[in-house]
Amino acid sequence: MSPLEVFLIALVVCIILYSFVLKRSPKNLPPGPMPLPVVGNLLDIPSSKQLYKDFLKYREKYGDVVRLVLGPFQNVILVFGHTAIHKALIEQGKDFKYRPTGLYIIKKIFHGKGITFGNGDAHQKLRKFTLVALKDFGVGKKSIEERIQDEARILAEELESHGGQPRDIQKPLQRAVANIIAGIIYGTRLDYGDPEFIRLIQNIDTIFSNASANLPENFFPFLAYLPNSKARTVFNAFDDMSRYARKRIKEHRATFDPDNIRDFVDLYLKAEEHEDEAALNEENMFRVIVDLFNAGTETTSTTLAWAILYLMTNPDVQDKCQKEILENVGSVRPVSLSDKEHLQYLNVTIKETLRLACIAPLVPPHTVLEDTQFEGYTIPKESTTSTLFTLILTFGKRQKSSTRRDF
Ligand code: HEM
Repeated sequence: MSPLEVFLIALVVCIILYSFVLKRSPKNLPPGPMPLPVVGNLLDIPSSKQLYKDFLKYREKYGDVVRLVLGPFQNVILVFGHTAIHKALIEQGKDFKYRPTGLYIIKKIFHGKGITFGNGDAHQKLRKFTLVALKDFGVGKKSIEERIQDEARILAEELESHGGQPRDIQKPLQRAVANIIAGIIYGTRLDYGDPEFIRLIQNIDTIFSNASANLPENFFPFLAYLPNSKARTVFNAFDDMSRYARKRIKEHRATFDPDNIRDFVDLYLKAEEHEDEAALNEENMFRVIVDLFNAGTETTSTTLAWAILYLMTNPDVQDKCQKEILENVGSVRPVSLSDKEHLQYLNVTIKETLRLACIAPLVPPHTVLEDTQFEGYTIPKESTTSTLFTLILTFGKRQKSSTRRDF
């Protein structure tokens, strides 16, 4: 059969399935633009890097809960505004706590495992184990705080070594943050010049700049086999990160001593012996590791880059932060978490940076497992639900007063 024949048959099957799904869709769906057969609203959404901005136009037209259809069947529910987002994530948090597994890229990469895109009992246990491990990190030779202080010193030396010349600081920030995570997970930091470390950072970059819920491969998986498919680039980056994680886990297994826990991997290996096998197994371990590198590196380094930019452009704020640190901590020892209560101005500066930079305007998608009543509408089961933080967090600075309704 020629590729054209395959395509035409796939098209006909999609149209038949589409009419079937339309018939079975619950009534009282949220409003939204009219979906076309097969492609849904995919053509309405540009493959923009600032997808959240494109979504804002729908709020103006349809309100705080909007339905799109991506591809033939995938309902996507956009939730805007403080009231509706609070309802979805907090008041009805139990309904919306699940992660979607229907999108092809998510399914292919995560297989329902790991922390970020897992569901169910095993996922809850894994999530709890990881949270406790990261929170009480009494294991290993160094606390998380010491690792952060050490890396901050190395980062400052690296930045100073350029003699005050202008330079892109995103890369050094990424390396510093990834190294703190590497220290927690593998017990040792990696050299900034180590080719494997450079590849790890490149892979994180590749994933963040290519993965998106609106990639057509999510709805037409055969597109992932075409040359230049973004989904394929993402799969390759994940595979490479996973290979490295498996290699390091193997090294840890070979030298594991239950009486000398060095890091997160050792802690996991120890727990694996006694805990629920469905939750704590190697398959989940390398996915958790990849999850932590991905979720932690880009977010934290981008926040730091914004913090530096805001401090440069607001020197009075920078001076006040510096004065507060000098008065309460001095210049001999590094700042530590126990200083927090004495550094009120620095604290609010960090919070204001998070609010203004709003580095995760589109929160990773959630889903509902049953048809769910929400804000007067029915959210069909297994819809991908996206909450948009951007307007909530930028309220007051960037919004004109005429658009200030419920953020
Ligand atoms: C400024 C830094 C950070 C920001 C703004 C940020 C933001 C977020 C957001 C918005 C979510 C989604 C929550 C949801 O879907 O309900 C999330 C999830 C997550 N983050 Fe972060 N994050 C940051 C740093 C980190 C770090 C340092 C780590 C770990 C080393 C991390 C690990 C995770 C994980 C594992 C998840 C998935 C949790 C789950 O699904 O239960 N994040 N983060």
